[in-house]
Amino acid sequence: MLISGGGSNMAALIAAARAPDHPAEIVVVVSNRADAGGLAKAQAAGIATAVVDHKAYPDRRSFEEAVQAVLEAHGVEIVALAGFLRLLTPWFIERWPDRLINIHPALLPAYKGLHTHARALADGVKITGCTVHFVRPEMDVGPIIVQAAVPVLDDDTPETLAARVLVQEHRIYPLALARVASGAARVVVDGEGRERVITTGAGGDGALIAPL
Ligand code: GRF
Repeated sequence: MLISGGGSNMAALIAAARAPDHPAEIVVVVSNRADAGGLAKAQAAGIATAVVDHKAYPDRRSFEEAVQAVLEAHGVEIVALAGFLRLLTPWFIERWPDRLINIHPALLPAYKGLHTHARALADGVKITGCTVHFVRPEMDVGPIIVQAAVPVLDDDTPETLAARVLVQEHRIYPLALARVASGAARVVVDGEGRERVITTGAGGDGALIAPL
């Protein structure tokens, strides 16, 4: 996993992957910041950690080569971005074809980028949520693996909305990782070159309606 901050999604992935029937094993947490709160949480959970400080490298490529070396040294097979606040270059992304996943606090392709909750509130949308997707070179773009929706309430602030979405982030990230690790979620390409994920064994056909 790659992190930059508090690592609540990281902690959710570590906890979920402990279950005997979860197909992924968390082997290393890499942070680009030495003061990331997630590092102590990972260590407390017995997970190896490493700091690769981007400020110690002259350019993105050499930073990413250092990250890549740590991942390879630990035999990593899937990379999960969990609040990792550096843009990755195509060089790194191409090293992890359909093996690099990210969580974003909005229902992509809506609200790419930052301040998603404040923007959703300003637009008056009634449903927002979160998305786990495969990473592609464009920011917050890539085949969607799992999404969760939450209602936007009339008295929400960006903070209360973020907290409601975060609860769902902690549910869907472990689910998405499990599906990628088991091979249940895989990318297919249509005749026009557009990618999407199909999922074996997924159920549910309920509508999500808000306000109800
Ligand atoms: C989450 O909202 C995630 O969707 C976004 O950054 C936040 C990270 O939180 N990419 P945490 O570090 O996992 O607590």
